[in-house]
Amino acid sequence: MFKIVVCVSGGGTNLQAIIDGVRAGSIPNVEILRVISNNKSAYALERAKQAGIEGICIAPRDYADREQFNEALLYAIDEVGPDLVVLAGFLVTIPPQLIREYENRIINIHPSLIPAFSGTGYYGLKVHEAVLKRGVKVTGATVHFVDDGMDTGPIIMQKAVQVLRNDTPETLQRRVMEEAEWVILPWSLALIAAGAVTVEDGKVCIAE
Ligand code: GRF
Repeated sequence: MFKIVVCVSGGGTNLQAIIDGVRAGSIPNVEILRVISNNKSAYALERAKQAGIEGICIAPRDYADREQFNEALLYAIDEVGPDLVVLAGFLVTIPPQLIREYENRIINIHPSLIPAFSGTGYYGLKVHEAVLKRGVKVTGATVHFVDDGMDTGPIIMQKAVQVLRNDTPETLQRRVMEEAEWVILPWSLALIAAGAVTVEDGKVCIAE
């Protein structure tokens, strides 16, 4: 079994896509060991509970400082020893020690076609607001490995989504999730679990 930990902050629809894929067999040989949220009221924790997966909350406000929070987060991951950490809408700056320890073993889903609309300040609805403001006609989502930059790690998979004339940030966010995020995150995970994904010179290579 290929073991994963999923980190979440909010609604957890990407987590749900993974849970559903594991159940349906489209993500074979993957086990979700634990779901970690930085927010105890995240609906993602309820989704974990309903799926019979352990869900824990590690919130910055419960720790004296960032360093202690980072240590607690690292401990909660190391304790179960996953093969891969999946950031599925995790709105927390990933501690450098976690990035070092899990090099090319942490993936993130970002709701744009990186490098467009990525980096500092581009998260959640802000991404889609910026897309509409700029007037681009195509946006999408990206799954990438996490390095020590902001949305700069090796790109695993991307999928484009049309921007429509009457889109609001909310309608666009929903379409990007439905058409791209919920497709490429489970798919990337399945490929990684199957050993089909390697990183060379900062670029991802997917075996045919
Ligand atoms: C998604 O748009 C994801 O790309 C972004 O945060 C959102 C999480 O949504 N990083 P959900 O919690 O998976 O529903």
